Amino acid sequence: MNESSKGAHVVATNLSKSYTRGDNTVEVLSNINFELQPGQMAAIVGASGIGKSTLLHLLGTLDAPTTGKILINGQDTSTMSGPVLSKFRNNNIGFVFQFHHLLSALSALENVMLPILVSRGSKEEAHDRARALLEKVGLKKRLAHRPSELSGGEQQRVALARAMVLEPSLLLADEPTGNLDAATGQGIHELLVELNREHGSTMLVVTHNRGLAEMMPFEFEMGDLGALSSESMPTKNGELRA
Ligand SMILES: Nc1ncnc2c1ncn2[C@@H]1O[C@H](COP(=O)(O)OP(=O)(O)OP(=O)(O)O)[C@@H](O)[C@H]1O
Ligand SMILES: [Mg+2]
Repeated sequence: MNESSKGAHVVATNLSKSYTRGDNTVEVLSNINFELQPGQMAAIVGASGIGKSTLLHLLGTLDAPTTGKILINGQDTSTMSGPVLSKFRNNNIGFVFQFHHLLSALSALENVMLPILVSRGSKEEAHDRARALLEKVGLKKRLAHRPSELSGGEQQRVALARAMVLEPSLLLADEPTGNLDAATGQGIHELLVELNREHGSTMLVVTHNRGLAEMMPFEFEMGDLGALSSESMPTKNGELRA
């Protein structure tokens, strides 16, 4: 679908993010420098409240940093706004949120079709691709269900299918298997790896799941103020982790 299906190169420089509520300012990320090479798959782990979702939202252009900038394939996302930014995001980035954000009035199938329709794909193509992906995540028999008629884990799988349907060059996933049993979670992990192999998608996955983190060749640990450290350790299949 995405002809230039090649992993995104992501460079974040001097990234900071603070939230201000009244007189109270919370500094979450302070001067982070971070890079993902095209096609790199990485996990981010770290304590609750440390800033993992915040970083993902910034990289996904869903929120703006307080200072610093993010280049995706050399394009400075902080200079984009409105329809230009929406188009850039739809064409390049797939996002799996920690809390699904599915559209409640649409069926599972329609939720997954939506990104294709927004990018002016045909209805038939959208239908076929959405159906195939929902089958892959094990929801063949839930196509017509609305989010309120799906379990939490099923909603998460719909959200994952929606994020993958345009074969994004950058996939950002926030706890994609948080609500799933081990076997279903394993299937989702394999799907992520398959998307990376087939389309070279760059991937950053926030997870508390050791199994998922260990499938990723890179793992970053987030510390106070967003400080990122990476570790070297062998993966299950013996390659060296960076
Ligand atoms: N909109 C906001 N306004 C004020 N503070 C916020 C806002 N969003 C997040 N925060 C604060 O920023 C910090 C980081 O939040 P974030 O959601 O990034 O954490 P996280 O690492 O994803 O945690 P978890 O593992 O629990 O999902 C938290 O202390 C949170 O309270
Ligand atoms: Mg979070």
